[in-house]
Amino acid sequence: MSGRKLLCAAIGALLAGSVAASADTIKVGIIGPFSGPFALQGKNFQAGVEAYMALNGKSVKGHDIEVIYRDLPAANPQQSRALAQELVVKDKVQYLGGVYFTPDAMAITPLLTQANTPLVIFNAATSAIMTQSPLVVRTSFTTAQTTTPLGKIAVERGIKKVITAVSDYGPGIDAEVAFKKAFEAAGGQVVESVRMPLNTNDFSPIMQRVRDSKADAVFAFLPSGPTTLGFVKAYNETGLKQAGIKFLAPGDLTQESDLPALGDGALGLLTTFHYAVSHDSPENKKFVEAAAKAVGGIDQLSFPAVGAFDGMHVIYKMIEATDGKQDAQKAVNAVKGLAWTSPRGPVSIDSETRHITENIYLREVAKGADGKTYNKEIQTFPNQKDPGLPTP
Ligand code: PHB
Repeated sequence: MSGRKLLCAAIGALLAGSVAASADTIKVGIIGPFSGPFALQGKNFQAGVEAYMALNGKSVKGHDIEVIYRDLPAANPQQSRALAQELVVKDKVQYLGGVYFTPDAMAITPLLTQANTPLVIFNAATSAIMTQSPLVVRTSFTTAQTTTPLGKIAVERGIKKVITAVSDYGPGIDAEVAFKKAFEAAGGQVVESVRMPLNTNDFSPIMQRVRDSKADAVFAFLPSGPTTLGFVKAYNETGLKQAGIKFLAPGDLTQESDLPALGDGALGLLTTFHYAVSHDSPENKKFVEAAAKAVGGIDQLSFPAVGAFDGMHVIYKMIEATDGKQDAQKAVNAVKGLAWTSPRGPVSIDSETRHITENIYLREVAKGADGKTYNKEIQTFPNQKDPGLPTP
């Protein structure tokens, strides 16, 4: 072999070694809101990750797993892209995960192919994210998926006219479109549709529009956090409830961590969602115990923790399939069709969309024997896929 060929072979071996180390550490970069108004949602990401690692170990096939958290307090696509880039280039993560808000997920997807890195979304819930890159897998829900069963439920409960009020961005528009489609297919009528800027926090003008619309019910979506608490409080406190105007929403609006602040005013609120902390199964019992410990008490526990818990399950399966080598497409292919029992119930990753198929439950806020309010599951819509809406 000539000197030049020898050198090439040596560089090749070195490069191969750097991507196929055996007793190595695999880094996973998690982006989420760990500070600011949505910090509890990020804390729930972390609780889900920690619960998974506490119950399943901190290594896969001899590869140690190291999780690196990066804080993205609010929807900010530029910052999201910069954080993802930094995690890949500087921190050398092999997997990206987390991401609470849709615009932040949209900003990361164009990087994935060049970075040879899969992104496992723990929350961001707009249908079209999945079409942006073949290297995205999602373990949360879409607002179209959680909302669709509600259209028929509303009609069955005698609701004929609805006004919709949603945050004016991806998951809000998807929720509005999916609700209207399902509700009108079942014979209902959407009489008015309001889209609220994402930073709205004074909801009294919206409540006035709801009242003026003469609708039987308001259907609403806002991203879970201080915004949803403010909206539901406004509904409870401006007399709409007393006036008999019903409330319909996906479960983002009654997340368990908001229920103490809503008090008895929340009783009877109807929502559809993929996960309730009260879900009755052995898997959920184990999860709640571990995740409540990680988040600092069961009253702080909410749905982003289950998206993160199952997201880590998917990442562990990817690491197992690639034996620690960085091969994003092989990792993603390995989880297509993967099925398991999540704390939320039976789930699987759809091989075509790479989005999670799951049960959607109708829930009602009820009071438990301990005097605390909770989301009580009262009906199950099994194996719901994402309806797959186009880019809003
Ligand atoms: C999103 O931005 O996709 C999002 C955020 C919070 C939610 C649901 C969806 O509760």
